Parts: sequence; structure tokens; C-alpha cells
Amino acid sequence: MLSIDRTPRDRPNRALPHLSPRSEVRLPNQTTNTNLPPRPPRRMLITAGPTHEPIDAVRFIGNRSSGRMGSALAQEAAERGWEVTLLMGPAAILPTDSRVRIVRFRTCSDLQALLLEHVSQAGVLVMAAAVADYRPKVDPQFFGGKFRRKSEDLTLTLEPTPDLLATVAATRRPDQLMVGFALEPREELLASAKSKLTRKKIDMVVANPLETMDSDTVEAIVLTSDGREVRTPGTLTKPAFAPWLLDLIDAAYASRPR
Ligand code: CTP
Repeated sequence: MLSIDRTPRDRPNRALPHLSPRSEVRLPNQTTNTNLPPRPPRRMLITAGPTHEPIDAVRFIGNRSSGRMGSALAQEAAERGWEVTLLMGPAAILPTDSRVRIVRFRTCSDLQALLLEHVSQAGVLVMAAAVADYRPKVDPQFFGGKFRRKSEDLTLTLEPTPDLLATVAATRRPDQLMVGFALEPREELLASAKSKLTRKKIDMVVANPLETMDSDTVEAIVLTSDGREVRTPGTLTKPAFAPWLLDLIDAAYASRPR
């Protein structure tokens, strides 16, 4: 006997027996204005983790950033329906949500190139990466191999890296929201974070005491360019901090000019 397996799509709808295929179902408060432009996808670009600045082919200058904060933010943003691209440095922790697009970088220069490529598509940039402020000014021939131990002192010259966030913020569109982080000694937390907010011309700074790096918990003060100061309710774990910060980011982005 031949049996036909009917999928739910071609099975008659028993809940609405009076509707023909051409009938229109209108939900309460649903408008019929088809001229409205489609809502653009909300895209968030997040950077996380440390940078490794090479000294030669096998050595680098790095920092203790674990990438945990940026990873938790990416995960939470994806769960809230953002299209998330995470630019992730050399850190072991990655979001498990397969909707997060992950692109890896190693150096400040790699990250600079990736930001240039991705930032124009984003509505929000969250710059959680711990970018090196200085990098070894090395002779390119060092990269051919490793330099050898000698008995005399070795002097390494460092050069400043460009301020990536300030550079990107200088050419941003008015609809884009830019969020930076400031890792500071407790006694200088507010003053340094305020100066970063104005110096980098960004919308929001998340100020954390130095102990936040590589820790499971966060105690933060968020400063905004319109003069607000919002504190976490005590100490939060990084996964608990992510929704707290994203509530602030969501609200700030919703009020940007379109
Ligand atoms: N940042 C950046 N480019 C750099 C250094 C930092 O974009 N070369 C970003 C970080 O990702 C962070 C913010 O700037 O969002 C603040 O970083 P921080 O290292 O605290 O501040 P600096 O600008 O380096 O200033 P300072 O050295 O005075 O603390």
C-alpha cells in the first residue's frame, strides 16, 4: 500500500478550518503598511583577549587578558538577537554559541586591519581587547629565526602602538555606538576613565580596577558621554556582568540617531 507522509506545511490547519489559503490573518496591533523599510540587522563587533607583539620568530610581549569578558559579552549579545562578530586574540576561552562569528588576531596590527574591514558593518563596537600600548621595534630579519643568548645585556626598543579605538571613533557614523574599557588602579579609576571617554571620543567607558584582568569577577563603573555614572551592584561574575552591561548598551544604541 502506498502511504503519503504529509508534512505539517501541507496538512490542513484544523485550528483555523474556515480559512482558505488566500485568507489574511491579522494579529492584534499588526499594521498593514508594507512601505516601511525592513529593519536592518543589529550588528555588534566585539574585540577581546590580549595581543602578542613579536620580539623574534618565537618570542613575544603579551599580557594576562583571558578573553573571558569579551567572550561572555559575545555569547549574551548573540542570545539577544544581535549578529555578533568577535575579533579574538590569542586566548583559550571562546564563546560556545555557534551564532557568534569568530575571527582570530595576534598582534595590534592584525587587529587594526580587522577593525578597518569590519567596523563599517557594525552598529556597536565593544573594544574589550587588551591591546598592547608598546611593541618591540625589531629589525625584520629577527623574524627569520630566534636571537641567541650572549653574555652582554640586551636592549629591546619599544615603539608606541596606534590607539585603535580612538582612530576608529574619529571616523565613525553618528548611528554607531562605541564602547571602550579602562583597566586602572582603584585610586585613579574614575579620573582615568573620564579622561579616556573624552580623549577617545567614545560613548561609554567600562572602568574596571586592575584586579579584573584574568579574574572570574568584575566590579565596574560605566561612564557615558552624556555624564551618567552607573555602578554594578557589588561584584559580579563575568557571565553575570554580560547581561548587566548589555542592558546599558541596548538602551544606548536604541536612542542613537538613525
Ligand atoms: N585600546 C586601543 N588601542 C590601543 C590600546 C588600547 O584601542 N593601542 C583600547 C582598549 O581596547 C580599551 C581602551 O582603548 O578599550 C583603553 O585601553 P587602556 O589600555 O586602558 O588605555 P590606553 O589608551 O592604552 O591608555 P593608558 O595607557 O593611559 O592606560
